[in-house]
Amino acid sequence: MDERYTLPIAKITKETEDINTYTFKHNLGAKPGQFIMLTDFEGGEKPFSISVCSETEFSVTIKRIGDFTTRLFKKNVGDLMSFRGAYGSSFFIHKKRVLLVGGGYAVPTFYFLAKTLIENGSEITLINGSRTKSEHVFADKFATLNIRTINTTDDGSFGEKGTSVDIADRLLEEEKFDFVYASGPEMMMKALQPVISDNKYEFLFERYMKCAIGICGNCTMDPLGIRLCVEGPVLPKEKVEQLSEFGKYHRKPSGSRVNF
Ligand SMILES: Cc1cc2nc3c(=O)[nH]c(=O)nc-3n(C[C@H](O)[C@H](O)[C@H](O)COP(=O)(O)OP(=O)(O)OC[C@H]3O[C@@H](n4cnc5c(N)ncnc54)[C@H](O)[C@@H]3O)c2cc1C
Ligand code: FES
Repeated sequence: MDERYTLPIAKITKETEDINTYTFKHNLGAKPGQFIMLTDFEGGEKPFSISVCSETEFSVTIKRIGDFTTRLFKKNVGDLMSFRGAYGSSFFIHKKRVLLVGGGYAVPTFYFLAKTLIENGSEITLINGSRTKSEHVFADKFATLNIRTINTTDDGSFGEKGTSVDIADRLLEEEKFDFVYASGPEMMMKALQPVISDNKYEFLFERYMKCAIGICGNCTMDPLGIRLCVEGPVLPKEKVEQLSEFGKYHRKPSGSRVNF
C-alpha cells in the first residue's frame, strides 16, 4: 500500500513526559510489526511502528528524541500530518503459548500484536520493560487485555526490578514457550538472543531508514544485504543468526558504520 494520505490528528494521548500516542481516523489495513513513514512536510520523514490498528483508526506511539519528534510534540488535534505505508514484514501469528519481550518505546507495537494473537487463540505472556517508571508505557492498555503481563524497570521504580532480559531468563528456566517475540533496543535483543537460543523467535529491528521502499539501501544489514524496510523490520531466527552486524554496528544517514 504505497499511497500517501494527509489527515488531521484525531487524538493525542500523553503516555509519559516524552512519549505520546497519535491517532488517525483511517483504515490502514496493516499487520502487527509493520510501520508507516510520517511527515509534517516541515523537514524529514521518519518511520514509526503501528501500536493500534482497527478498521476505523490507527495509532503510532512516539518518543521525543530529536528535532522531528520534538516538533511532533508541539502538534495539536486537528493539525495535518502525512503518512505512507504500512510497510515491511509483520510478525508471524503463532497460535500457542508465546512470550513477548519488549523494551521502552518499542513496546506499544506489541499491543497491536497481542490483540491479533488473542483473536487467534494464543496464550500470551508479556514482559513490558523500561529503564524507569517515568519511561514505562502502555501498562494500563495491556491491563485491559486477557494476557499475563510482567512489568519491569531497570531501577525497580515500577513492577519488578531488572531488565526485560533478566525476567525472560528467569521465566525460561521455569516455563516453556512455543514462540518468542522481541521489540526493543538492538542491544536488548542482542542480550536476549543467547537466553532464547532454544526457542523459535522473531525480532523487530529499528535501523536508519530513508526511502522505506527498498531503493536507497540505507537499511541493509551485513552480510545478507537484507533491507530492513522491505524484508524486515521483523526478522525470523534463521535470518537473525546470520547477521554479522547485529549488536555490533549500525549505520548513519550517510550509510557509514557506527559501533554500538
Ligand atoms: C521500523 C522502525 C520503527 C520505529 N518505530 C518507532 C516507534 O514506534 N516510536 C518511536 O518513537 N520511534 C520509532 N522509531 C525510531 C524513530 O524513527 C526515530 O526515533 C525518529 O526518527 C527520531 O527522529 P528525530 O528527528 O526526532 O531524532 P534525531 O535526532 O534525528 O535522531 C535520534 C535517533 O533516532 C533514530 N533515527 C533518526 N532518524 C531515523 C530514521 N529516518 N530511521 C530510523 N531511525 C532514525 C536514530 O537512532 C537517531 O540516533 C522506529 C524506527 C524504525 C526504523
Ligand atoms: S530505507 Fe531505503 S532501502 Fe530501506
